[in-house]
Amino acid sequence: MIPIIAIDGPVSSGKGTVARRVASALGWHLLDSGALYRVLGLHAQHQGVALDNKLELVDLAESLPVRFVERGGDTRVVLEETDVSEEIRQESVGELASQVAVLQPVRDALFARQRAFAQAPGLVADGRDMGTVVFRDAPLKIYLTASAEERARRRYNQLKEKGFDATLSALVEDIRTRDERDMKRSVAPLKPAEDALELDSTDLTVDQVVARILDEAAARS
Ligand code: C5P
Repeated sequence: MIPIIAIDGPVSSGKGTVARRVASALGWHLLDSGALYRVLGLHAQHQGVALDNKLELVDLAESLPVRFVERGGDTRVVLEETDVSEEIRQESVGELASQVAVLQPVRDALFARQRAFAQAPGLVADGRDMGTVVFRDAPLKIYLTASAEERARRRYNQLKEKGFDATLSALVEDIRTRDERDMKRSVAPLKPAEDALELDSTDLTVDQVVARILDEAAARS
């Protein structure tokens, strides 16, 4: 069986960074499932497909022309022939993603594509429902959290680094709203899997979180 580490958690919990670091330390594949939802939202917009048109969205999801290309230790996201790695990180695309993500048929259409990432020597998958739905069979499931204030502070620093304007109080508010939406939605709500290890990273560095996950992985191999 292919070893899988499923990492779920709320927005800005650091799961993307942690998943990348863990995958790289182990030499395993990486699935950033949020990127799939983001690319689908962007593709729908390009194709002029309304975000409530389930049938057409399912068609788009099934034939989504996306490739994840490894380049110099980085994974580039290529939609058709265009590198959309930066574009999909925009807030507006996150919004498109969260709208298509509430549709069960769309999630079903992306299920097989996500499962296909499970290849030797192993997979680290990050998202909202990796441990609860897509990789329910993963031997190691992590639910990574941090306080809303700490997540807002991290996001604030990232935005400032990129030269964007932001206020901390607006970010805390935004994070609380998104938490509420992700956790209360009826389809694949964000919650820890019953057998997940919950890690609160509020007072931990990225290195400490990565080390803890690698220890847990070693204990299971
Ligand atoms: O993780 P990221 O912010 O890139 O995800 C974008 C959006 O896609 C999330 O806000 C969430 O609504 C959705 N998503 C999801 N299930 C996943 C990953 C992401 O519903 N496994």
